[in-house]
Amino acid sequence: MNKSNTVGAPLEQSNLFYQNHTQRPFLDVARGVYMWDVDGKRYLDASSGAMVSNIGHSDPRVLEAMQAQMSKATFAYRLHFRNEPAEQLATLTASLMPEGLDRVFFVSGGSEAVESALKLARQFAVATGAKSRWKVISRYPSYHGCTMGALALTGYAPLANPFAPMMREMPKIPTPTCYLDNDNYNDHERGLRYAEMLREEILQQGPETVLAFIMEPVGGASTGALVAPDSYYGRIREICD
Ligand SMILES: Cc1ncc(COP(=O)(O)O)c(C=O)c1O
Repeated sequence: MNKSNTVGAPLEQSNLFYQNHTQRPFLDVARGVYMWDVDGKRYLDASSGAMVSNIGHSDPRVLEAMQAQMSKATFAYRLHFRNEPAEQLATLTASLMPEGLDRVFFVSGGSEAVESALKLARQFAVATGAKSRWKVISRYPSYHGCTMGALALTGYAPLANPFAPMMREMPKIPTPTCYLDNDNYNDHERGLRYAEMLREEILQQGPETVLAFIMEPVGGASTGALVAPDSYYGRIREICD
């Protein structure tokens, strides 16, 4: 092993790729909302990492379930085998979804989920004779992932711009950052105004070319947990319908 990857070695000499050389602690243990570095210093993880460790670190119930399953089997290819944990999780997920959404497709992360959703929507359009539909409208700012399809939907220029010639960028409408708006409308009215921008964009793009609209119901990295006014979501549903 290269010594530069061991505790105490300078980050610059690490064999791991880091996007910048900001020094960071060496993690040892994480439990619940706390993380400890190798020197025993404790940190409060107030942001759940990148807003992903939402049930806390190393939940004993999760560890137990992982250990139990891993001691039985670690991989089963879905074209060859069914397996009980995946079946159970699918049933639980479906029970939490709105009526009619009762099939679940598991992937490894957010970007892949967005890619899969894009392809599912397009394949549905092709299968139902609506081949002219391919545009997926998203919002600016937004974050939908780092793979090329998800990046085309992501509304953040520094991430997307270098790759613009390599992908088909998709139309964007403004994210309802109402708290920044210095106007005379109330929140209800602002929600409806922002939703209206979707209707206008669909008309401008040509409704027969529009495949889907994608948004973060609760904003992630790009908008810091932004939530639209209540009036927004229902109107967006109506417009899509
Ligand atoms: C709304 C949303 N979609 C997609 C992603 C991409 O997920 P991943 O990093 O697991 O590929 C993220 C990640 O922050 C996200 O917040």
